[in-house]
Amino acid sequence: MEMDQIYSEGSRRLFEELDVSLDPPGPDSLFEVAAPFLEPGGHILDVGCRDARHLVTLVERHAGTGSGVDPVPWHVERARLAVREAGLEDRITVRRGVAEDLAEASGSVDTVWCRDVVEVLPDLDGALAEMRRVLRPGGHVVIYTNVLNGPLDPVETRDIHEPLGNVAGNLVEEDLEAAFARHDLRIVRRDVVGTRWREFIEEHEQWVSRDLLRLARLRRTRDRVIERHGADAFRTAQASLQWGVNQLLGRFVPMIYVLR
Ligand SMILES: C[S@@+](CC[C@H](N)C(=O)[O-])C[C@H]1O[C@@H](n2cnc3c(N)ncnc32)[C@H](O)[C@@H]1O
Repeated sequence: MEMDQIYSEGSRRLFEELDVSLDPPGPDSLFEVAAPFLEPGGHILDVGCRDARHLVTLVERHAGTGSGVDPVPWHVERARLAVREAGLEDRITVRRGVAEDLAEASGSVDTVWCRDVVEVLPDLDGALAEMRRVLRPGGHVVIYTNVLNGPLDPVETRDIHEPLGNVAGNLVEEDLEAAFARHDLRIVRRDVVGTRWREFIEEHEQWVSRDLLRLARLRRTRDRVIERHGADAFRTAQASLQWGVNQLLGRFVPMIYVLR
């Protein structure tokens, strides 16, 4: 490449074009994607419900009932509070538990909602078998998860996935889709979200650039951080701050799957 091509009027114009938003959808667009697969009045199971924010919205929008499960007691507490505050105690129950061992009766769930949880499941097959078991015939599983663009990388696994509790193998696209097939869960919709949600978040909140700045500061003050907060806190912070950055760079690729 010639220097006058690199430093050209044309490249400056290209950058200006890239300053214009492509109007990407944000994370809440998952509700719209899932809507055609949710039965009015149906029962929704949110696996890994965290604070039940999504479950409350889903139950309100679809006039149904819901149950939420999460292994972290603090999440369960906050989820129950959110359900109480929404006045939905008679329609939503939340309990402590894991995807691999669901309490729901077989065939009792119309929709399984599993958002950003597949990455951390130590027993993906066990969890998919349970989702399949509780699903009624013709019901759907809505999954949002991330896959890797390219092969597994041992350094990335050590520095990003392990400190975040991710099972790196669950992010290998072809293995993940083979696991769905093993459990007779057929893909009826598959969306590559790619960088869109992160673009939206960066455009509205500048979270990714903030994380990059935090990451630079974290690394430059490594010794002090470890002394004050411990080595584990450093590793987790470093991994967490790289998550969204890698999504925006296209290394981790958010995906939506609807399975039947
Ligand atoms: C990244 S958060 C996503 C939370 C929520 N679904 C959302 O989209 O905001 C991952 C969640 O999975 C939960 N989790 C971790 N291991 C799990 C397991 N084995 N079964 C079910 N949930 C699990 C965590 O406690 C956490 O709430």
